[in-house]
Amino acid sequence: MSYAAVGPAVPAVPPAAVLCGVGAWVPPRVVTNDELAIRLDTDDTWIRTRTGIRARHVLEPGQATSDLAVEAGRRALACAGIVAGEGVDAVVVATTTPDRTCPGTAPLVAARLGLTGAAAFDVAAVCTGFVYGLATAAGLITAGVARRVLLIGADAYSTIVDPLDRANAIIFGDGAGAVVLRAGNADEPGAVGPFDLGSDGAHEDMIMVAAGGSRQPVTLDGTSRTDRHFAMRGKEVYRHAVTRMTESARTVLSKAGWKTDDVDHFVPHQANLRILCSVADDLELPRERCVTHVESVGNTGAASIPLALADAAARRTLTPGDRLLLTAFGGGLTWGSCLLTWPTLPTPAPPHHQGEHRTP
Ligand code: COA
Repeated sequence: MSYAAVGPAVPAVPPAAVLCGVGAWVPPRVVTNDELAIRLDTDDTWIRTRTGIRARHVLEPGQATSDLAVEAGRRALACAGIVAGEGVDAVVVATTTPDRTCPGTAPLVAARLGLTGAAAFDVAAVCTGFVYGLATAAGLITAGVARRVLLIGADAYSTIVDPLDRANAIIFGDGAGAVVLRAGNADEPGAVGPFDLGSDGAHEDMIMVAAGGSRQPVTLDGTSRTDRHFAMRGKEVYRHAVTRMTESARTVLSKAGWKTDDVDHFVPHQANLRILCSVADDLELPRERCVTHVESVGNTGAASIPLALADAAARRTLTPGDRLLLTAFGGGLTWGSCLLTWPTLPTPAPPHHQGEHRTP
């Protein structure tokens, strides 16, 4: 008996997710190391030598993560040539600092971008959020659930870091970066993948905000200031970050059959310049292939990779056909990597305001 008449013998090739737009935004207010040194027992030399950071951008009081996300999303949609949100089926926001514990931030961002009706949800994987979000957004496309997805990494760490905690206040900044993915073919520039994702929850207390969730609800009398703020064991995080990022990068390269030398640009989560240089050295990647943006924006959490991408694209550092390795590490602990070949895109607007000094 032949089944030829009931349908195609060969299943259709599932679509791949292809990057077709990028954009980013940081708030105008710049906080330099010298400004931090006025209120904290620290100085510019200590911060620069330990982290590579010279300045960071912070929100004005009353602003929130969605304000960052909307600006970055708008820029990525413009870069993708999408007018008035037409044909975007899903909006994913990767963040550790949602506007509220409930509901998610993504539906509000979607509505403000004129995308009411699109699926919208948040991804929580701390500083690995963008890479997890990229895998999630790509999955929506390859599963046939969505044809076009807007993915935004947005964080406002200034809202959860204790301004008097010198160990953390020097590291973090606020910002957002976004990409648009569309359904396409696996062999075209911009196709994302393969991925490597991982976690180790045994170390959940290494990077944490202890209070505010169901484990330790905020109470008026019983919650200390420390419990409400972001806490991190910096030295241990440093070691785990270097090890996990290096391993994850190696894993994804081997999945794709790429050698380290095939990588034109290494775009790591911008945790700290020393971590990035250590990972590049361990991978035997020349440091000049490492895209860095941390000097002028600090660690912007889930925003850091798309922010670095948008900044490099705006400065025309990325050219079509360049091979990129994205690698992230964050609380959870979580880590992940992804490969892609840079597509032909219109040059996006720079994440910084015109005329602003990038490095004071
Ligand atoms: N200014 C001046 N001194 C500071 C300081 C600051 N901002 N922060 C800490 N110190 C002091 C400490 O109190 C300590 O003093 P002590 O020796 O008298 O106790 C000394 O500097 C060394 O502190 P330590 O925490 O051991 O410094 P470090 O060399 O490990 O650098 C970090 C601290 C946070 C910069 C470093 O651990 C780091 O980069 N960790 C990774 C953080 C990160 O990138 N996280 C994001 C991952 S997603």
